[in-house]
Amino acid sequence: MGAQLVVEDVNLHFGGVKVLEEVSFTAEADQILGLVGPNGAGKTSLFNCVSGHYRPSSGSIAIAGTEVLGSPPATLARHGLARTFQHPALQLHATVLENVLLGAHSRLPGGPVEWSLRWPRTVRAEKAVREEAMELLDSHGLAWAASVRADELSHGLHKGVELCRALLMKPRLLLLDEPAAGLPHSEVEQLIETVRSIRERDITIVVVEHNMGLISALTDRVVVLDHGRKLMEGSASEAQADPRVIEAYLGKDAVDDAA
Ligand SMILES: Nc1ncnc2c1ncn2[C@@H]1O[C@H](COP(=O)(O)OP(=O)(O)OP(=O)(O)O)[C@@H](O)[C@H]1O
Ligand SMILES: [Mg+2]
Repeated sequence: MGAQLVVEDVNLHFGGVKVLEEVSFTAEADQILGLVGPNGAGKTSLFNCVSGHYRPSSGSIAIAGTEVLGSPPATLARHGLARTFQHPALQLHATVLENVLLGAHSRLPGGPVEWSLRWPRTVRAEKAVREEAMELLDSHGLAWAASVRADELSHGLHKGVELCRALLMKPRLLLLDEPAAGLPHSEVEQLIETVRSIRERDITIVVVEHNMGLISALTDRVVVLDHGRKLMEGSASEAQADPRVIEAYLGKDAVDDAA
């Protein structure tokens, strides 16, 4: 089926600070790729480059064969990209359902003028999307919260709402930034099942996560970043056994102790 996301030689600098250096990797279609590395390695920055929130200094980013580097997030949604954020940024005074519906703009026919005129096809499309949003909330155990204001929900539930918002965009490529962070252990198993079921819908997934249990259970391959550079790439078990990775996480002493 070919590559869904190809990142080549991406560099990202803020002033004199190099955040990403010559990062290259490929996420194959319908696979789950893990992106791991210590705090500050550049994982979220890399997601921000792919999703158009940051503009890399140089390099190439292609989604399903189309160069997208420099495209704004709204354009990327039309290329099939959706993401969740490490720190979910919901509209706190809006309801959960309204927050999920924010993911639907890229799917409504016409543009803002037509939407505000409320033509019949707009009204029909809105109704269908609203029903889908309710189904998504239901399948994530959140139907009860549809009319609850976002600021009344816990951080863990915000992550679920954000995932529903991303899925309502009907993505082909989904970026998940630390979906398990803040979740109690008992809910991580459920999250693993949820992500597996998303992959079965022919969606390519790249997941950033510190929870190595989740990474081992879910990913086909992992890319390890450290100080903005790709350290290695392989299976989750290869990464966990790699002395370079152990050193990056735990320091050189840990590698010497293990030897
Ligand atoms: N907008 C920015 N301006 C300046 N520096 C930034 C900016 N965004 C990220 N950085 C820097 O880039 C580096 C990588 O940060 P990033 O958030 O990408 O790491 P991360 O791998 O996601 O870490 P964590 O696991 O803690 O989430 C950090 O040193 C951070 O301070
Ligand atoms: Mg991060």
